[in-house]
Amino acid sequence: MGWIIMNSDDMSGVNGEGTDGIVVAGESGGGPRALEVPPMTGPEPVAGTEWAPEGVDLSVPSPARMYDYYLGGAHNFGVDRELAAQVIRVMPDVPKIAQANRAFLHRAVRFLLGAGVRQFIDIGSGIPTEGNTHETAQQQVPGSRVLYVDHDAVAVAHSEQILGANPGAGVLRADLRRPEEILDSPELGGLLDLAQPVGVLMLAVLPFISEDERPEELIGQFRERVAPGSYLVISHGTGEVRPAQASAAASLYRSAADKATLRSRSRVRELFDGWDLVEPGVVWLPQWHPDWPDDVGPDPAAISVAAGVGRRGRTS
Ligand SMILES: C[S@@+](CC[C@H](N)C(=O)[O-])C[C@H]1O[C@@H](n2cnc3c(N)ncnc32)[C@H](O)[C@@H]1O
Repeated sequence: MGWIIMNSDDMSGVNGEGTDGIVVAGESGGGPRALEVPPMTGPEPVAGTEWAPEGVDLSVPSPARMYDYYLGGAHNFGVDRELAAQVIRVMPDVPKIAQANRAFLHRAVRFLLGAGVRQFIDIGSGIPTEGNTHETAQQQVPGSRVLYVDHDAVAVAHSEQILGANPGAGVLRADLRRPEEILDSPELGGLLDLAQPVGVLMLAVLPFISEDERPEELIGQFRERVAPGSYLVISHGTGEVRPAQASAAASLYRSAADKATLRSRSRVRELFDGWDLVEPGVVWLPQWHPDWPDDVGPDPAAISVAAGVGRRGRTS
């Protein structure tokens, strides 16, 4: 199977494979079924494909462009919308989950600004959408600096377009699986000072790193290079709440450019190894420093995304 559910009790490999009763859209016999793309709010998709950067494979769905579609964005192609529609079919809350994830990004950035952080590396930043990291950061604290990193060509090209000549923001096409290419890049060196605290943002990107790719070690390379007082922010889809739905959704990503791995909250907690978890620890995303107590809602687990923030201490 292309999907994997990890929890801390089974570190040895694949856990939870083959959950009975999973219905994967398009696999019920007779080959893939064309789904009607549900109407999404937001701008019309950008017509045609000429705007796509050269070299982009338009036949393979991209998680970055699918996520743009969930958020009602316009930078996606038919192939992305088709698979995204299948994901929404098996997990109807996906657009709501994406919005909640964006809201968490803003809360976490504001929290880090409050803690004195003035520079950010937003890894797996995606296709720019309303309220990007640099907008939140620079509105709150002018002069804040943000380096966006993504390995998706469309995400990077569109970020470059949006950022224009913003002197406090840059974009780098690089892969989280090779941290040194990010940490040693001239783009990072020209914008950020690793001797000062940095906010390392990894929102909804770690599901695209498999267990074999050793996420702790990748994160550890960032921890070793950033100054004490730096922070790590993670949000991560879990399969804890509606395992069949979540697995079916993750399974659909088998045909996308990046495969998806779901992890439990306890497994996500382990990814903060060496970082001091900020209160309240790794919790359901709406529970992490809500703007208003009512924002948490009656069933925060329904979002099925774990979130947390860790601080690099002097000795870690
Ligand atoms: C679900 S989107 C999340 C976007 C944004 N971080 C957010 O939370 O709103 C995941 C993003 O991670 C990017 N991504 C996936 N694997 C990556 C990797 N190995 N290196 C860099 N970016 C990656 C995808 O291209 C996509 O833009």
